[in-house]
Amino acid sequence: MQDNRNRTGRTLIIKDETALAAFAARIAPLLKTGDVVALRGDLGAGKSAFARALIHTLSPDAGEVPSPTFTLVQVYDLPQISIWHFDLYRLEEKEMDILELGWDEARRSGVSLVEWPDRLGGLLPKDLLEINIDFIKDSENSRLVTMIPYGAWRERV
Ligand SMILES: Nc1ncnc2c1ncn2[C@@H]1O[C@H](COP(=O)(O)OP(=O)(O)O)[C@@H](O)[C@H]1O
Ligand SMILES: [Mg+2]
Repeated sequence: MQDNRNRTGRTLIIKDETALAAFAARIAPLLKTGDVVALRGDLGAGKSAFARALIHTLSPDAGEVPSPTFTLVQVYDLPQISIWHFDLYRLEEKEMDILELGWDEARRSGVSLVEWPDRLGGLLPKDLLEINIDFIKDSENSRLVTMIPYGAWRERV
């Protein structure tokens, strides 16, 4: 993994999904109840792959981690912590409110991993770890991953 800093955050060139999983494994131990991680990137960039790897790092026995494309949220009550994995892409179409998905409980009782975090609108917290996953032109498996801490997260990464 190459590693360099810029003004907005830390950028990594990730060569394949295994490298992305290794990155997720480094983020996993930093997380505590009440945290929100915003996962940004186009469809197929690897947001769900990141969440899956992170959950499996915390608990290898977590079982299958499907993309919450249709359920919009999947909750994993792991031995140490609860992980709420949201995919808010379809939120508007389904006319379902984020609060109905259990947002308040997620904030109180677990870590929230949120794909399409802009759907949160005013509920997007000011303390936030943002992870951007971008495609790299002409490469199927490499990604540019940028980690941007906001608020209290600036002291944590
Ligand atoms: N470096 C990589 N990181 C993550 N996924 C990758 C990578 N290279 C290829 N892939 C593939 O890209 C797809 C990512 O899908 P997914 O995680 O569901 O995307 P998203 O949730 O961002 O829409 C998977 O099929 C995965 O195998
Ligand atoms: Mg996804």
